[in-house]
Amino acid sequence: MTRSPQQKHQKHQGNVQIAGSRVLLWIALGMALTACTKSTEQSDTKQSTKEQQQKLVQMRGCASCHGVKGQGNLSMKGPKLAGQSQEALAQKLKAYRSGEIKNPTMAIMAYNLTDEEVDVLAAYFSQFP
Ligand code: HEC
Repeated sequence: MTRSPQQKHQKHQGNVQIAGSRVLLWIALGMALTACTKSTEQSDTKQSTKEQQQKLVQMRGCASCHGVKGQGNLSMKGPKLAGQSQEALAQKLKAYRSGEIKNPTMAIMAYNLTDEEVDVLAAYFSQFP
């Protein structure tokens, strides 16, 4: 098959246009998929990622009293959290939040944690021996 240079050129331009709209479609699809992934992560926080956990621990400042690995911090009177199960830690955090366990420091720390955040934080500190 032989084509004149002009025909070739036209065909090329057409391809670029189609490719352009395809790219947009893929971007849109990508964004939709990302949105889906995010919402499942939020609803199933027992499988929160290490990154999510570290971010939240950092944001909430738990490590200043409990240690980066939950080893505890005597000078801040923060007890060791490592070695406890995710369930136990989550239960305690909820108990501080509701006032069932009375402690002014932890009441403030747990006060505005959502159930999801409690699970993420508990998952983080339960990973250490
Ligand atoms: C200012 C210091 C401080 C900060 C910050 C802090 N805690 Fe505490 N935490 C304590 C103290 C003190 C206790 C012991 C309270 C008591 O005697 O009931 C405690 C107890 C706990 C317990 C119960 C431990 C056990 O075995 O009974 C958990 C769980 C806990 N903290 C989680 C957290 C998390 C998660 C964060 C971050 C959101 C956090 N703490 C931030 C000081 C702190």
